[in-house]
This record gives sequence, C-alpha cells and structure tokens, in this order.
Amino acid sequence: MIREILKMGDPRLLRIAKSVEDIHDPALEPIIADMYDTMHAAGGVGLAAPQIGVDLRLMIFGFDTNPRYPEAPPVPATTLINPWLEILGDEREEGWEGCLSVPGLRGLVPRASRIRYGGLLEDGSLVTREVEGFHARVFQHEFDHLNGVLYPQRITDMTSFGFIEALASESDHA
Ligand code: NI
Repeated sequence: MIREILKMGDPRLLRIAKSVEDIHDPALEPIIADMYDTMHAAGGVGLAAPQIGVDLRLMIFGFDTNPRYPEAPPVPATTLINPWLEILGDEREEGWEGCLSVPGLRGLVPRASRIRYGGLLEDGSLVTREVEGFHARVFQHEFDHLNGVLYPQRITDMTSFGFIEALASESDHA
C-alpha cells in the first residue's frame, strides 16, 4: 500500500527512531512492503520508516537505474533493520541529493566517501558491507533519517541548494 510521505517541517521527521525490538514481529512485514510500494511509486532510491510516520530504525534502498540520478551506478535492493554506520577515513565528497520528504529541491551535500555499514536483513541475518561513492551516500542519507536529520542540515554551501528545475543545468553535470 502506498503511504503518505511526510514532508520536511513535520516533527515526526525529527525524532530519533526506536530500535526494532523483535525482528520476527509480524507487523514489520507489511510496513516494509508499504515502504517499497511508496518508494517505487515516488521514484525514489531509498526510504526510511520515519518518512511514512513509522518510528522505527528501518530503511530500504536500492535501484538498477533511476531517472532522479541518471549517472549513478546500481545499488542492490536492501532492507536494513537496526542499521549501523562506521565512517572509513577522512575523505569527503560532495554530491547532489534530493529527498522524497523535500520534494522539488536538490542540494550539494558533503558525505564520507567510504563507509562500512551493517544491520539485520529481513530474514534476520546480519549483513556488513564496505562501500563508497553513491552507495555510501544513499546509505548515509537514509541513516540520517533514523536520527532525525534531513539532508538540508548537511549542506555547507547554501548557494548549491534549490529547486530542481532551476538547478537542472548544473546538476546534470554533477
Ligand atoms: Ni530522504
């Protein structure tokens, strides 16, 4: 079922989400299914549970190709429960981000270039990955949602934040 995506300004997006206590809770499966329906309907590359008003540390992301990020390499479809993040090294890079909770806008956001992350998959198994570039960016963006942080708070140069149609020529070359 496609759910309403909360928009920036909604206080529910600012909460520190709660850990999932019971991975086998039957309530999780329909929430995850709704998250995929909602993400696909909106054409997004990721979605965190707080964005549909669910106060849990739960995120999904992944795509083969996506018109919002035409030059991005594929990221495997992943559901993560109670994820964790470790930043590897000091390297940072800037890249364009949008967010389904901040419709119509884009910004140039500095992120760690290389990270290790992990969490529980839907079947309860543990996964750990070392990733870089856009995959690392997508994870960091979704992970931020679980801590009540939206990408505009990460922007350091506000001249690179604006409406997609106004930024189009610039972001096409990013
Ligand atoms: Ni987002």
